[in-house]
Amino acid sequence: MLQDLKMNQILKNNLTKVISLGAINKRLAEIAYDINNRYFSKSPLCIGVLNGSFIFLADLVRCLDIDVEISFIKARSYNGKQKSDIIKFDFFDFDNIKGRDIIIIEDIVDTGDTVTKIRNKMINKANSVAIVALLLKPNKAKLNFEIDWVGFEISDEFVVGYGLDYNQKFRNLKGIYQGIEI
Ligand code: IMP
Repeated sequence: MLQDLKMNQILKNNLTKVISLGAINKRLAEIAYDINNRYFSKSPLCIGVLNGSFIFLADLVRCLDIDVEISFIKARSYNGKQKSDIIKFDFFDFDNIKGRDIIIIEDIVDTGDTVTKIRNKMINKANSVAIVALLLKPNKAKLNFEIDWVGFEISDEFVVGYGLDYNQKFRNLKGIYQGIEI
């Protein structure tokens, strides 16, 4: 336990802030302005991809003036450093999206696998499916559709903070940080 605490402190000391909370808030206001316009007089269902999107979703929806409903989906894709196939979606009933306007809220699009699989399961049931991602790694992402709103494009480096973790740690950092070697 003490060993873990020391290790986390060492990792934390090596982190460099790459996106500040101020910059995130500014970008969120811009995205929210667009979403308010696109969904004027509609009531979309915002679906946050757990766990990483919980802070992003909470901050984004509080910038929206339209009526929204909130839900979450858990996609199992990463276990610390290692990536494995998504095997299951939890906390979500895909029947509840029939005829709805859906906004998928994703923390980061890395390879794009997660958001592609979620979108594929929704696209034929929902009235519309849009995606908002706080971060996109354009050199890694393989997508055959557009992400409707991207907060920031970043390099391929692993990032933590503002909801994003490394082995479940660092989600509570206020901005986005690099410096973890994986
Ligand atoms: P993708 O399926 O490769 O696009 O990965 C999406 C998921 O992997 C995200 O929702 C995150 O949970 C996780 N992930 C990918 N890159 C990072 C990163 O740089 N930091 C933290 N989590 C990441």
